[in-house]
Amino acid sequence: MLIKNAEVCRNHKLETCDVRLKDGRIAEIKKNLSPSEGEKVVEAKGLTLLPGFIDMHVHLREPGFEHKEDIASGCRAAVKGGFTQICCMPNTNPVTDNKVVVSYIKNRAREVNLCKVHPIGAITKGQNGEELSAIGGMKAAGAVALSEDGKSVVNTKLMANAMLYASDFSMKCLCHCEDLSLVDGGVVNEGYYSTLTGLKGSVRAAEDIIIAREICLAESLHLPVHICHVSTYSGIQLIREAKARGVEVTAETCPHYFTLTDAVIEHFDTNTKVNPPLREEKDRLAVIEGLRDGTLDCIVTDHAPHHEDDKNVEYNLAAFGISGLETSFALGYTQLVKSGILSLPALMEKMSENPARILSLEGGKIEVGERADLTLVDLNEAWTIDPAKFLSKGKNSPFGGRNVFGKVKMTVVDGEIKYEEGK
Ligand code: DOR
Ligand code: ZN
Ligand code: ZN
Repeated sequence: MLIKNAEVCRNHKLETCDVRLKDGRIAEIKKNLSPSEGEKVVEAKGLTLLPGFIDMHVHLREPGFEHKEDIASGCRAAVKGGFTQICCMPNTNPVTDNKVVVSYIKNRAREVNLCKVHPIGAITKGQNGEELSAIGGMKAAGAVALSEDGKSVVNTKLMANAMLYASDFSMKCLCHCEDLSLVDGGVVNEGYYSTLTGLKGSVRAAEDIIIAREICLAESLHLPVHICHVSTYSGIQLIREAKARGVEVTAETCPHYFTLTDAVIEHFDTNTKVNPPLREEKDRLAVIEGLRDGTLDCIVTDHAPHHEDDKNVEYNLAAFGISGLETSFALGYTQLVKSGILSLPALMEKMSENPARILSLEGGKIEVGERADLTLVDLNEAWTIDPAKFLSKGKNSPFGGRNVFGKVKMTVVDGEIKYEEGK
């Protein structure tokens, strides 16, 4: 296949040229390449070719919660969102805490044959926080990292052991940071809007204390750690200071944390209920600054699809989570690039290159010899987010009706077209 005349994002620059794909890899990048006989030509004048997006934090819900999402629907949503690789969290049923579930997910994803799916294993058996899961077996079956996502490992000694075992298997722990004793049933950020609505609030310290703990462990053990979905200005400062003194800490945030504040809870729309909760403007601005100065390495979706029955209930009872795969690029592009905060290549570092580096995955770059995982977008196309049109089973998005720029036109995985708009 030959992709012609696209503006190509490569070596942290944008340049118009042609890209030839062969045997699943990028074979040639030059101006004025002519098609060889029988070669498919994609005319991409006016479009931008990006490294396939990599989402290192997705909930696919299978096995166990297929009414919310399954591997097939989640992968369809992923390629529509421009993702060529996704990593799925272990809070399934049964929990992804052993090699059998890891293999099941890998095999099912292979059958679905859309994007690459990398399972993340649970840190403890059943995510019960009591006993480490069988880490070696999960690694051998294809798990790329460990996480207790949905909660933190409460016992600090167990968490330290998890980091040690993970490193023995060349894996990292991805830490959901939440002290439940401080959350104490809170469902939104504690502040003006929790008072206004009467919804129970949860303080930043509930997140920050565990961020600080994981940093302390990483520092004392001389091991890497990755902090999930950072939402607080104070947590970002902890990570910034840790990085400055050489701690091997990396961190991610999500589009909802740089786009929204807790002001949106005022109307009790349960699509705004997410964990950690939407915070205040000073947090949103700190998330943006953290992305800009490199404190936050990645943008992930924390794609958390839920069934209508989990969301169409009173705010206190609704499930936490936002369906994010189909809006992430447009929100990143509109909020961060259009507004002049990040260059497009810098956004691609957050959405592709850094996740690949942190998890030692192939891809994340457009270079000769790399896997042909590519996303073709129209940066100038304005569109309105309509969750009813999501391919994900989870229509739970607080972004319905929002006008954004940047539309995914085509997603290519290992040189094959896996999504083409309108087809
Ligand atoms: O909002 C969230 N939803 N946060 C989490 O930590 C878990 C996730 C889910 O699994 O629904
Ligand atoms: Zn989480
Ligand atoms: Zn999550």
